[in-house]
Amino acid sequence: MINPFYSDNFIELYNGDCIEVMRQLDCRFDACVTDPPYFVLPNGKFGDEFKWDSFSDYDGFLDFTKSWHDELSSHLNEHSCEFIFWSQKYLNDGFTLFNPSRLCFWHHANLVNVGGMNDFVFDYEPIFVRWNGTPMLRKEGKKSCFFDYVKPQSNFHGDQRLVHPTQKPVELIADIIGQLDGAETIIDPFAGSGTTGLACIRRNRKCVLIERDVEYCKRIVERIKEYNPQLELF
Ligand SMILES: C[S@@+](CC[C@H](N)C(=O)[O-])C[C@H]1O[C@@H](n2cnc3c(N)ncnc32)[C@H](O)[C@@H]1O
Repeated sequence: MINPFYSDNFIELYNGDCIEVMRQLDCRFDACVTDPPYFVLPNGKFGDEFKWDSFSDYDGFLDFTKSWHDELSSHLNEHSCEFIFWSQKYLNDGFTLFNPSRLCFWHHANLVNVGGMNDFVFDYEPIFVRWNGTPMLRKEGKKSCFFDYVKPQSNFHGDQRLVHPTQKPVELIADIIGQLDGAETIIDPFAGSGTTGLACIRRNRKCVLIERDVEYCKRIVERIKEYNPQLELF
């Protein structure tokens, strides 16, 4: 049995390769919200900052994606759902890999960080949504496939401050989780700065986070403590 790097009454954080860690977890989840490597910033183009996004080749990336998703699937409850952030570049293969029920979009409400493009800039990120068994969406209200949220920046404050290069807004993840009926336990195998964990604290759900880079694990713990210093530590 693997020991958590950190735990409190909402969060268990494991430091390690997510496939190895998931194999040692003796539990199942109602939902997964995750933002895996996309292989869009390969070969150390941006130095070490994106080294976790590098693979020797595209086939290696596809094999890795299939492996973590197979392992994840064996830990999801019969009725469960998945939200997987993905890239525009490999959208077609994403459909094959995840067989989604819906394609949703995070639209960046602030038009930033678009690589110098001016026309039809990539100001959105696709999110594959997949239901296993009966959909767990809240009954009341209609929900759009578009989520409009500001992209975190390094000069923002609080949980919106950028501390990871591909950080998602806590509000966005909290919105997603808030749409789910009966999803009490959530997993994010690619935790990064722990945004899914903060959103789970906000929504009063239990969450398992896995992150391979120990420096990001330390950042997650700092963020959790800043976010909710009253947490009861185990
Ligand atoms: C796209 S980022 C996630 C960012 C996150 N959504 C956030 O808001 O901060 C992916 C993260 O997965 C981690 N990672 C990559 N491969 C991994 C693996 N095999 N097991 C666990 N974590 C991994 C990387 O270190 C990186 O921090």
